[in-house]
Amino acid sequence: MNTDQLVRTFTEYFEERGHRRITGSTLLPPPGDPVLFTTSGMHPLTPYLEGRPHPLGRRLVNVQRCLRTTDLDEVGDRTHLTVFEMLGSWSLGDYEGPQSLDWGYGLLTDGFGIDPDRLHVTVFGGDEHVGPDTGSLELWQDRGVPVELTVEDNWWSNGPTGPCGPDSEIFLWTGDTPPESTPTRDDRWVEVWNHVMMRHRRLDDGSLVPLPQRNVDTGLGLERLSSLLQGRSSVFDCDVFEPWRRLLPPLWQLDEPSLRVVCDHLRSAVVVIGDGVRPSNTGRGYVLRRLIRRVLTVLHREDPGRGLGDLPGELLRHTLDRFRQSEDPGTVHRVLLDEEQRFDRLLERGRQVLSRPRFHGPLTEDDLHYLHDTHGLPRDLVLDLRPR
Ligand code: ALA
Repeated sequence: MNTDQLVRTFTEYFEERGHRRITGSTLLPPPGDPVLFTTSGMHPLTPYLEGRPHPLGRRLVNVQRCLRTTDLDEVGDRTHLTVFEMLGSWSLGDYEGPQSLDWGYGLLTDGFGIDPDRLHVTVFGGDEHVGPDTGSLELWQDRGVPVELTVEDNWWSNGPTGPCGPDSEIFLWTGDTPPESTPTRDDRWVEVWNHVMMRHRRLDDGSLVPLPQRNVDTGLGLERLSSLLQGRSSVFDCDVFEPWRRLLPPLWQLDEPSLRVVCDHLRSAVVVIGDGVRPSNTGRGYVLRRLIRRVLTVLHREDPGRGLGDLPGELLRHTLDRFRQSEDPGTVHRVLLDEEQRFDRLLERGRQVLSRPRFHGPLTEDDLHYLHDTHGLPRDLVLDLRPR
């Protein structure tokens, strides 16, 4: 099953069960939202989870692009991407968690053909504020799926305040042996789908109050499930990365970890630019700047002659199409090239300043402040040029 078929199967399955398809939002949350980027499918739906009636009703399904910098250090492993697509389904005060899990189980096993013996789930075991999620536990016991109870790992929120609740996560066994152990103890169990019983709101003082309605919010990482259904060992090997795998290695010979970082960060940068962000020193623009600079640092490590001028247009077009973005690929390329030039000038200045006798010894915190404040040299860049 390719990624587009997976999206179709998912949305049609929920449409057949009364859900209306909504258009995913951009990566930019509405003004006033404290978070820089959309981090999950529920993010743009927050007002509706909090009780505002949605114009399309109480059952929704969509595919939403998301960006997570919290996972940045994990990028390059087999399951994490900075920008990814999330399939989601919602009950806005309509059906309850066990119904959602039952449909989820049906879709994974009948719809996607996953062997039920390769599934394991986790369920919220209860803490001093909220009791155990017995509805989910009973549903899984009825279906014969093994359950692990946890506390912190089964509580989901999109931030320190706002809608939140206990969740039940569905894991798929990826090992070569028959399934063993449990999701928290063996990372061959890979999380594929999270169902959040979103019925609480966390206030500024940390206390919990009930939301006006009992919702269910689910999220399934598209590239991750796609790679598993295609029998691939990492997200970088599923069909959406096919052009990257075909076109980059002949251009830049990189070891596998570097190739993954370059693919992930370049693709993410293209999508962020496609949503209208431009590199800058603050906020979203700074996240974009760091993504591009990290690519350049990896590319230059072995050969300073490598540059983004060689980036094939096919990769830009393919990515913008995949994320349904209308930005012109030529414009995206120009933004990348301008940023590369700016970075090259900064590197040149950095090398000149660091060659002064004053900086020949180990760099102190004061040196790093001075280099930043007086010469505009970011700490990360200085430490790349002169590791401590
Ligand atoms: N909002 C939940 C998540 O992102 C489903 O995992």
